[in-house]
Amino acid sequence: MGAMIQMLSTPFLFLLLSLWSLGDGLSLNYYDNTCQGFESTITDVVKKTTKNDKTVPAALLRMHFHDCFIRGCDGSVLLNSVGNNTAEKDGPPNISLHAFYVIDKAKQAVEAMCPGVVSCADILALAARDAVVISGGPTWDVPKGRKDGRVSKAIETRQLPAPTFNISQLQQSFSQRGLSMADLVTLSGGHSLGFAHCSSFRNRIHSFNTNNDIDPSLAPAFAANLRSICPLKNTAKNAGSSMDPSPTTFDNNYFKVVLQGKSLFSSDEALMTTSGTKGLVSQFASSKGAFNKAFVKSMIKMSSLTGGQEVRLDCRKVN
Ligand code: HEM
Ligand SMILES: *[C@@H]1O[C@H](CO)[C@@H](O)[C@H](O)[C@H]1NC(C)=O
Ligand SMILES: *[C@@H]1O[C@H](CO)[C@@H](O)[C@H](O)[C@H]1NC(C)=O
Ligand SMILES: *[C@@H]1O[C@H](CO)[C@@H](O)[C@H](O)[C@H]1NC(C)=O
Repeated sequence: MGAMIQMLSTPFLFLLLSLWSLGDGLSLNYYDNTCQGFESTITDVVKKTTKNDKTVPAALLRMHFHDCFIRGCDGSVLLNSVGNNTAEKDGPPNISLHAFYVIDKAKQAVEAMCPGVVSCADILALAARDAVVISGGPTWDVPKGRKDGRVSKAIETRQLPAPTFNISQLQQSFSQRGLSMADLVTLSGGHSLGFAHCSSFRNRIHSFNTNNDIDPSLAPAFAANLRSICPLKNTAKNAGSSMDPSPTTFDNNYFKVVLQGKSLFSSDEALMTTSGTKGLVSQFASSKGAFNKAFVKSMIKMSSLTGGQEVRLDCRKVN
């Protein structure tokens, strides 16, 4: 079904989506008879919270990615730890996962309109789309109908790709979820937004390998600056760097910095290590339009990985 949809032209695709559903029973009109107007309620919450905190859009986009990569987009990333169960959000790579309060606010507003109808997983998918739009990126219609899961385990965050991954490890992580190398390059463009802590790119600037203290693929002046921000000893707890020179604007600058050896993670640099992925990086660096178009397609694909069972009443707790 997914492959077939990709082959079809956009107007026809639109018709097709409005007739049938996408993914596991997802559809654009899923809530048409049960909850009207809630999408703009979510958009309002994302807009208002972003006004007070510029880091909200990046946080929402990353939160949705983490949600989808563990048990499908089922809101498992939103669940709190209870009793002896440590939830995903308290698992190891939780640095910079934040702004959960935005989803709580949106959920409360939507519950007031139509109680028990709209899943937390759908609210997060919509909020991630809104985050991209608010930041100047492309918009798209989000297929809906995800259900919320009942399981969230910190240990499963090991299933997320690590910033130290090379291209074959990234390929494996994405292909296990039905995502292609093109999806990998495109979705890495999410790193157009936000911030990373020193620990996420430390491997590249101290003791990189036996021959080099610094990753030779990093531009020298850029690496020197990162080392001054993240010294070997006594790095400040919140120290780090913006992902690209315009961290609150969703644009194709990420791909430009990847080409210049100024991306932060080994996983970003890895996109330069095969001709196919490198070609796509170059294409996106020179065409914001091509990137935007690809991003919409890959986001819909990633956010159609489903897995839940219920519509949670409180996004932090199972029913
Ligand atoms: C390709 C594999 C990926 C890896 C290895 C990866 C890794 C990371 C790491 C290590 C951070 C920084 C955490 C920190 O130091 O605070 C980060 C941040 C971020 N990632 Fe990714 N990521 C990947 C894919 C994605 C995807 C697919 C998206 C969304 C489409 C995304 C969106 C973001 C955003 C927006 C941030 C900034 C978060 C913030 O500022 O709060 N990433 N990523
Ligand atoms: C976790 O708690 C539940 C009851 O709350 C208990 O049945 C289970 O044995 C506990 N598991 C561990 C590993 O302690
Ligand atoms: C991350 O996990 C630690 C425990 O491992 C927890 O104390 C901290 O509050 C978590 N951070 C966020 C933002 O959830
Ligand atoms: C990537 O890393 C894995 C694990 O360390 C290794 O087995 C593999 O050969 C590496 N692949 C590339 C292309 O460097």
